Amino acid sequence: MMSGMQTPVVAVGATDWAWRLGALVAGAVPLLALAVWHCTDAFHCAAFAFRRRGTRRARRLPPGHMGLPFVGETLALLWYFNLARRPDAFIEAKRRRYCYGDGDDDAGIYRTHLFGSPAVLVCSPASNGFVFRSAPPGSFDVGWPDPELVGVSSIVNVHGGRHARLRRFVLGAINSPNSLRSFAEVVQPRVAAALRSWAAKGTITAATEMKKVTFENICRMFVSMEPSPATAKIDEWFAGLVAGFRALQLDIPGTAFHHARKCRRKLNSVFREEVKRRKLKAKLEEHDDVMSGLMRMEDEQGRRLGDDEVVDSIVSLVLGGYESTSSAIMWATYHLAKLPAVLAKLREENLAIAKEKNGASFITLDDISKMKYTAKVVEETIRLANISPMLYRVALRDVEYRGYTIPEGWKVIVWIRSLHVDPKYYDDPLSFNPDRWDKAAKPGTYQVFGGGERICAGNMLARLQLTIMLHHLSCGYKGCLPSTPKANKWGCHVL
Ligand code: HEM
Repeated sequence: MMSGMQTPVVAVGATDWAWRLGALVAGAVPLLALAVWHCTDAFHCAAFAFRRRGTRRARRLPPGHMGLPFVGETLALLWYFNLARRPDAFIEAKRRRYCYGDGDDDAGIYRTHLFGSPAVLVCSPASNGFVFRSAPPGSFDVGWPDPELVGVSSIVNVHGGRHARLRRFVLGAINSPNSLRSFAEVVQPRVAAALRSWAAKGTITAATEMKKVTFENICRMFVSMEPSPATAKIDEWFAGLVAGFRALQLDIPGTAFHHARKCRRKLNSVFREEVKRRKLKAKLEEHDDVMSGLMRMEDEQGRRLGDDEVVDSIVSLVLGGYESTSSAIMWATYHLAKLPAVLAKLREENLAIAKEKNGASFITLDDISKMKYTAKVVEETIRLANISPMLYRVALRDVEYRGYTIPEGWKVIVWIRSLHVDPKYYDDPLSFNPDRWDKAAKPGTYQVFGGGERICAGNMLARLQLTIMLHHLSCGYKGCLPSTPKANKWGCHVL
């Protein structure tokens, strides 16, 4: 009887403990999750408040949240960009949650934590412009994690007066009317030949073929190299180098980063040899290309660029101009294939120009200036392609913007893409509509080439190459049937 009585007492105690434990766990798990979720954000907010204690000026971080420990919001960004294929959803989610202003009152600035660093996202015409102008002077600059990969004396790595000087050289070599005139002559035979060969093949992989013809043209324009096994190797090294920019910075054999550094050294040595060869021959005028242009130019004090500056400039120009241009050309052909009415209007304008030329098969810079509809197709392609969706800067000091502080050392991500797909600035922004360019874009809402002192040095060359491709394509071919492009890992598009 006793033992019969005791058994239920023990059973009640155990159940009680089990309940208590269950309740504790049920309560602790969400608390723990909450603590994990907020600890990075709380840590950075506390560190910021501590550092700014005693200062009278704004002590507010931009609104936002920094996500999980270590990874921050990187996984969410990659999810939206690469897997969900909704590249704008990341910033939209921030806006929905943290935007305290409406329309023009939106400060367009949020805190986050991406790729291992605390960061501030900026995404409005005004806030982007503020960062591009680096206002006040010396507030922001590009912060390349590995200067050797981009080139220590490359235009994208140097700052201040040195950048301004180098930029004058580079602009002179690729953006002056004379250079553009000569590029127009140089690239057309290859573009026309490429189109003939694509038509003969019947089916092509557009991205591959566009890259091939763009690279051949770049080799010719920049260093007078014709396609050969040597240029194929150079192409391979550039591909390795580009992969390194997107890889984890782990410099051990077998990693993409290690391979990229090797590729960079090989590229340096090929182009350094070429510079030496040209100097030895002392016949720079033999070559009508960018390398000789850069070697010949002098600044106001009569000084020329050093060999490393020439080599780094050539590598930077290929990096800046290769994938970007071929990708823009690929998107143009895609949109034209989908929109026969646009192709028809384009053809009408280009056939009229071709007719005016009395049989001359290549257009000139003067012809291009008359091609108004083609210019609109070019602009619309570049707007919608969003080839550089975001640009990177680093805050060199604490910077105040509309009552918020961007702390020194934080990354600043200028999300230019969001402007070009915002219905506030572009009606039905995801549709390809060249006629929208009958009216100029609202000030500050078209930043495809960046802004401020680092605005794309090759923007005119990119437009020129695209125009030439559109001319030969629309005059000579009926168009093509596109298959749906695969999402490109780094240039996700909404189709
Ligand atoms: C559609 C094609 C192109 C797009 C969308 C594009 C976009 C951009 C953007 C957004 C920047 C600013 C980067 C920043 O602020 O951090 C930039 C800079 C630059 N781009 Fe382009 N680009 C294109 C074509 C080209 C071409 C064809 C070249 C040269 C051959 C070129 C050379 C450069 C250089 C040298 C810079 C650095 C300028 C500086 O730091 O002063 N780009 N580009």
